[in-house]
Amino acid sequence: MADRNSTPPTTTDAGIPVQSDEHSLTVGPDGPIVLHDHYLIEQMAVFNRINIPERRPHAKGSGAFGHFEVTNPEIKKYTRAKVFQPGAKTDVGMRFSTVAGERGSPDTWRDPRGFAVKFYTEDGNFDMVGNNTPIFFVRDPMKFQHFINSQKRRADNGLRDHDMMWDFWTLSPESAHQVAYLMGDRGVPKNWREMNGYSSHTYMLVNEEGEKFWVKFHFHTNVGDEGGNAHFTQDEAVEKAGTDPDYHRADLFNAIANGNPPSWTLKFQIMPYEDAKTYRYNPFDLTKVWLHEDYPLIEVGTLTLDRNPTDWHTEIEQLAFEVNNMVPGIGLSPDKMLLARGFSYADAHRARLGVNYKQIPVNKPQCPVHSYSQGGSMRVEKSEDPVYAPNSYGGASPQPELVGEAGHWQADGDMVRSAYTLRECDDDWSQARMLVMDVMDDDARDRFVSNVSGHLAKDVSEPVLVRAFEYWRNVDKGLGDRIEKSTRDMIGGKSDKEGMGSAESTHREDVPEPAE
Ligand code: HEM
Repeated sequence: MADRNSTPPTTTDAGIPVQSDEHSLTVGPDGPIVLHDHYLIEQMAVFNRINIPERRPHAKGSGAFGHFEVTNPEIKKYTRAKVFQPGAKTDVGMRFSTVAGERGSPDTWRDPRGFAVKFYTEDGNFDMVGNNTPIFFVRDPMKFQHFINSQKRRADNGLRDHDMMWDFWTLSPESAHQVAYLMGDRGVPKNWREMNGYSSHTYMLVNEEGEKFWVKFHFHTNVGDEGGNAHFTQDEAVEKAGTDPDYHRADLFNAIANGNPPSWTLKFQIMPYEDAKTYRYNPFDLTKVWLHEDYPLIEVGTLTLDRNPTDWHTEIEQLAFEVNNMVPGIGLSPDKMLLARGFSYADAHRARLGVNYKQIPVNKPQCPVHSYSQGGSMRVEKSEDPVYAPNSYGGASPQPELVGEAGHWQADGDMVRSAYTLRECDDDWSQARMLVMDVMDDDARDRFVSNVSGHLAKDVSEPVLVRAFEYWRNVDKGLGDRIEKSTRDMIGGKSDKEGMGSAESTHREDVPEPAE
């Protein structure tokens, strides 16, 4: 029991000292509890409301705080963003996550990893909400929700289901590049500290002279010597999932607590504005990388995490990143996924945390806020008169010179529902082929084949299996043959798993068939 001479008095949430932490108020020692024991009622009510809704994707994760420091003063020639000016040092908050698992799921399930950074800049919050892979499964936001649903749980039995995962992937050939990453070593990083992060999307930069550039962000880890590829094998991952499901969360917390702050070097991959019109890959297609030999990486600065949260719920669970948080000098691009994300995150936060989530200390900008928002549930910052604009009473005024500055480009055409226009090298298979056949060495490729086959051997129906073997043959004929042999060996021939009715039933005509 706490020593009442050396600790402060326990109080209710209203600050009123309480008599007991152990005994409810009753009518005599053996009599009934009375309703006016407000402290007991408050304890029960708060407990019943401790949990808030979890994030729909990326529910399991953790994070820390630190700073970002510019190390290359030359970078200002690409952007006027204050966070990237010579000598700038900016506070950051960061969260790592898995995508499909729920809030209590194991850290070492195979999945991409979220890599989200909030820069608290002088010009307001800039959020870079990336992953540990430089590309994504789909290129049109209409498919994102369906994709996530296929990775989550079935309606009937509430189970995750490899059949529905492969059903979606094989009907979406644009997923091949990202599935190749997922089934390779990056699908189970050893820890978050030895992992790279990527904006994945193309963003726009604008410099002081108004010149525009396209950019991809690459965060390269400075920890370990595996260049961002430190990983667990599938067996190690399964073992850790059983014995230590919070392994990654603990690893980050302990490293910082023990004085080993992890750091990353931020690099920009810059494409001149005009090049986007003629590059042989569509530079806004999120399923493709820009080749480093075409656009080399340029060092920008160092991101360091050196402060742990002290109240995990308040500082990490309520940390809210949003893709639309962009500061002068940085803007969106015509990537359809990025544009849709610009809407989705703030909407998710309003649903999960409430309309005034930006007043929660970890989401609050470290610069003055002069918006005309007011009211709403749980508002804690006071509004001021005048509460409207335009006004003649000294209210905040906009800066017209910012209009058209970042995130603006030429667009013209009829309104259509259509895929991107194809460029010379735009197909769904060749960058996946480069990754598996050229970038992976023999050992990594062996692990890849074993991971894919092991995944396919778990309850995937025969029609979906056949499509999956074709999918990998489109990446490389020999690779697909190996995967088929290995999977068939594991399941002893054909799959006897029933899919969700006919696997062909929702096969849409406009989905391209795998090439012969
Ligand atoms: C989380 C939507 C694509 C990275 C989320 C959340 C939503 C969402 C609703 C949960 C937010 C919350 O409740 O806090 C979308 C949509 C996408 C998309 C609509 C495509 C149209 C992507 C892509 C990436 C990504 C391509 C990476 C490049 C993340 C990360 C988080 C997240 C890292 C977790 C942020 C955190 O730690 O709180 N996404 N997402 N998402 N998303 Fe996306």
